[in-house]
Amino acid sequence: MRILFLGDVVGRSGRDAIVAQLPALRTRLNADLVVLNGENASHGFGLAPDMARAFLVAGADVVTLGNHAWDRKELIPYLETEPRVIRPLNFPPGTPGRGHYEVVLADGRRALVVQAMGRLFMDALDDPFRGAQAVLAPYRMGTGGVSAIVVDFHAEASSEKLSFAHSFDGRVSLVVGTHTHTPSGDHHILVGGTAYMTDAGMCGDYDSVIGMQKGAAALRFWRKVPGEKLSPADGEATICGCFVETDDATGLARSIVPIRIGGRLAQALG
Ligand SMILES: [Fe+2]
Ligand SMILES: [Fe+2]
Repeated sequence: MRILFLGDVVGRSGRDAIVAQLPALRTRLNADLVVLNGENASHGFGLAPDMARAFLVAGADVVTLGNHAWDRKELIPYLETEPRVIRPLNFPPGTPGRGHYEVVLADGRRALVVQAMGRLFMDALDDPFRGAQAVLAPYRMGTGGVSAIVVDFHAEASSEKLSFAHSFDGRVSLVVGTHTHTPSGDHHILVGGTAYMTDAGMCGDYDSVIGMQKGAAALRFWRKVPGEKLSPADGEATICGCFVETDDATGLARSIVPIRIGGRLAQALG
């Protein structure tokens, strides 16, 4: 299976890039499955339902969220009607939405997309390790099962991301981090066959502080006075993520390459 994963879409810059470029990118890569993280699409905070719809129309099969899942309240009823938008699985029982979604491709192949959220330097959610273990328990990859399993691990700390990935090495096709908005250079295939990248990076303007206008963001460190309003930077976005090819017979990865298209970052075109 050919899998395109794109990191946190930030503000109008990121949204416009995705809506304008994802259809052609999906075609050029001949991607079977496209997953993107939409938690920062609405002015940097949350995901409005119309933006989720736009991403799905542009070619995303699943949209993931994160710690900003609830910043736009109108997403809560939308999650009940749109299972292709998922939030981290380790929110407490009773939380709206779901933490995984099973995609059925046009050719009948199935893929599972899962999101979990780390706890180091993050909100104290339920255990993402045991939570993911429980969600994955009924699923097997390869012939007779799902062709691929993609896990978006939304977390701050690289140590937690690596610990999670090694814990599920061989059980899933890809563990890719989101949330730091900075693409890591450590994309590789773990010894058990799971593709890994600590962070996919953001789809947004990199002339910024993690997607937000740099002046106001820097002032928060210079002056410890609350109230500096953060707005997304509005220059050209770099579309960031990774492209993974897996073996349908085993679900394991054959290759992982970075994607960085447009904007200020050195380009990597898959
Ligand atoms: Fe984010
Ligand atoms: Fe986040």
